[in-house]
Amino acid sequence: MTQNGSHPLWWKDAVIYQVYPRSFADSDGDGIGDLPGIIDHMPYLEKLGIDALWISPCFQSPQGDAGYDISDYRKIDPLFGTVEDYEALIREAHDHGLRVIADMVPNHTSDQHAWFKEAMVSEPGSAARERYLFRDGKGKSGDEPPNNWQSVFGGIAWTREPERKDGKPRQWYLHLFDSCQPDLNWYNPEVRSEFESVLRFWLDRGVDGFRIDVAHGLIKEKGLPPYTERATMVGEDDDKTPSDAPMWDRDGVHDIYRSWHKLLASYPGDRMLVAEAWVKPLSRLARYVRPDEMQQTFNFDYLLCRWNAAKYREIITDSLEAMHEVGAITAWVMSNHDTVRHASRLGLKDAGARPQGIDAAHEQPNEALGLRRARAVIFMTLGLPGSATLYQGEELGLPDHTTLDRKYRQDPAFFRTEGKEIGRDGCRIPMPWKADGPSLGFNESGELWLPQPKQYKEYAVTVEEKDPHSTLALYRALLTQRKKFHLGRGVLKWAAPRENVVEFTNGDVRVVLNCGNEPVALPPGDILVASHEIGEDKMLPANAAVWISVSKA
Ligand code: GLC
Repeated sequence: MTQNGSHPLWWKDAVIYQVYPRSFADSDGDGIGDLPGIIDHMPYLEKLGIDALWISPCFQSPQGDAGYDISDYRKIDPLFGTVEDYEALIREAHDHGLRVIADMVPNHTSDQHAWFKEAMVSEPGSAARERYLFRDGKGKSGDEPPNNWQSVFGGIAWTREPERKDGKPRQWYLHLFDSCQPDLNWYNPEVRSEFESVLRFWLDRGVDGFRIDVAHGLIKEKGLPPYTERATMVGEDDDKTPSDAPMWDRDGVHDIYRSWHKLLASYPGDRMLVAEAWVKPLSRLARYVRPDEMQQTFNFDYLLCRWNAAKYREIITDSLEAMHEVGAITAWVMSNHDTVRHASRLGLKDAGARPQGIDAAHEQPNEALGLRRARAVIFMTLGLPGSATLYQGEELGLPDHTTLDRKYRQDPAFFRTEGKEIGRDGCRIPMPWKADGPSLGFNESGELWLPQPKQYKEYAVTVEEKDPHSTLALYRALLTQRKKFHLGRGVLKWAAPRENVVEFTNGDVRVVLNCGNEPVALPPGDILVASHEIGEDKMLPANAAVWISVSKA
């Protein structure tokens, strides 16, 4: 047992905290967070009561997509530190009872990766080009893209190489994301063995697992057949990842995860893989967590669910069932670095909707209502059996920056859609640690890669630490009780359905979430934690939640 109570197969009920290094804490004052900044805050992370950290990519990268464009998988980008810093981070985390999950990006490299640079100066059909997806163009002079696929970030998914020195016809390369992120050819054995070697490199340094970026995208249907839909992953419409898309969720991806499963199992300790797979329906998603594949796959149906008790009940039931079918746990998640924070989404008229970013021209969320609902919804997330992933800052109740000026925008999706999609910068704002200072304690210099909105001051860690009713205090209390009652390993039993209420027991705890606008009566039992004050009348107010002890003892 480690300090935080995690045990063998720790990932089955782990609460994982996503650290987005650029925005967590900046030790050297350059305006971008770094690894020493994370190490400095290890006591804060331990005190929160989580079990593991997922660290978004900090490998060597030109930062064309905030580090999801990697030019060397075995180096840490100097912006964030060194490999020694990463090793120190792993050591420190382990000393604080926390596991470390690295972020692996196997679908594409950066265009500055040695392989891609070599490909660009090599002949069509050469081994160097076979690592990527180069194709001749269509039309008389090959100046039309090889097919009609569109990039997730907008525009066509192909870029033509510049004039060749040998004057030969220029080819095109595929990129499902930005043009600086060429897709790898996963039919090529060299690509497979290189990634196995990269995984070993980090496993040897002690990482406890990997989050696999775009896990459903690695295998493209042979022949790259035409596909007209734009299969976005950041879309408002949750049905934009259809099962017939030739670039998503092809059966061939599972061989890769089977081989990685074996590779991880050859290491001591319970190392794990968690898939970022935007896949529907749940029965297809469950295939990523069959016993010989990954251990977890984020439940995005839960993240995408509107503020609606009946819908929550349905998605929870269906998810638990689908994962149970293959013997897997469900990995609940509400926010991440690709999504408007749920404190903002729950304050929209269409509460829980997932807009492609929010700026001053859009509907502004009701901040107080969004926060109130965010404080309530976490009772459900942490009350469910399985694992849960939190996104840095949600423990403070942080909203998005919803009025960030266009001049600060960095997300490639903003540029590739010519500003039609606002993009993800609003959820990536540097953390407020202190109520004073030019960058609210993010660093000493006041430099910031994205400016913080005025109200972040009220959400600062130092402010919330002093307030027993703060969101931070609430998260700490819930995480303590979750551990005490082993909720992550429990079994859910639905209470008789009541309109607008999500209500279930998990072992000795009754979870009640009121999604409606009227108070509802609470069942008997001692209140363990409440998101809002409960009066003598024992009524649960609108947009509030409680955990009640129902133990007979
Ligand atoms: C994943 C990441 C996202 C990134 C994309 C391309 O969806 O979470 O941030 O832009 O993959 O790597």
